Amino acid sequence: MSLFDLEGRNALVTGAGSGIGQRLAVGLAEYGANVTILDLAGQRQGSDTTAEQVKAIGREALVVDADVTDPVSVREAIGHHVSRFGRLDIAVNCAGVNHSCSAEDLAPSDWKRVLDVNLSGVFYCCQSEASSMFSSGGGSIINVASMSATIVNRGLLQAHYNASKAGVKHLTSTLAMEWVTRKVRVNSLSPGYIMTPMISGPDWAEKIRGFEEQTPMHRLGTPDDLVGPVIFLASAASAYMTGTDLLVEGGFTSW
Ligand SMILES: NC(=O)c1ccc[n+]([C@@H]2O[C@H](COP(=O)([O-])OP(=O)(O)OC[C@H]3O[C@@H](n4cnc5c(N)ncnc54)[C@H](O)[C@@H]3O)[C@@H](O)[C@H]2O)c1
Repeated sequence: MSLFDLEGRNALVTGAGSGIGQRLAVGLAEYGANVTILDLAGQRQGSDTTAEQVKAIGREALVVDADVTDPVSVREAIGHHVSRFGRLDIAVNCAGVNHSCSAEDLAPSDWKRVLDVNLSGVFYCCQSEASSMFSSGGGSIINVASMSATIVNRGLLQAHYNASKAGVKHLTSTLAMEWVTRKVRVNSLSPGYIMTPMISGPDWAEKIRGFEEQTPMHRLGTPDDLVGPVIFLASAASAYMTGTDLLVEGGFTSW
């Protein structure tokens, strides 16, 4: 059991006001960690809900409004975390956006927005998080990529999203090698289709039936399905792993 124990560890989760990030923040608290909940100011209600759930488990929570596309905002957020908790042990970079458009019609502004949040945002977070971890003796960074880093989603028009997630996957292994002697592990977690606000609404209902059929386990994942994998990557259980991409997709990429 102690391999997975996060008691006394201090974690930060980006995009923790909704969906996967919210569940992962609470999951880290369930295994013993205090958690900083980072999300956009406009997502404050969701972030406060996450904080209430963390506190209900008996762990400490800090809410920080920040935009991952702004490196100054990210640096300040890590500073708030360290002021409150003393050190950063675990960082889960989960903030992300999706958008659908055919490649031939894709506006440069939409290409840039998706790459800014999903790829540049992850880089700015890793940079500030690792800098803090170097000075406190190490830590574990987990970047939420996607199976879209590895496969092309049949029927979805999202060249920009797929490219951003492939970037996250390779950025992860590259940073892992740059920092391998400095006690900072960097791994990515690549979910398959997960039922969250990102893929809900009338436009998605028909597609979701198709995703269930295409998934060997014949169901979509839920944010609960990602808690075990993130605890594994955050904890001593994965001490000899860095630079890997952990696919959690109900078997999707095997077919
Ligand atoms: N839902 C899926 O099927 C699925 C599959 C694979 C990967 N993912 C990835 O998981 C992550 C979480 O997705 P989700 O489904 O929970 O979506 P979600 O929309 O429920 O949550 C995303 C969160 O990121 C936050 N965010 C967006 N831009 C931000 C910014 N600039 N700065 C700070 N926070 C920002 C949003 O406010 C939101 O709270 C994303 O990176 C997504 O690409 C999702």
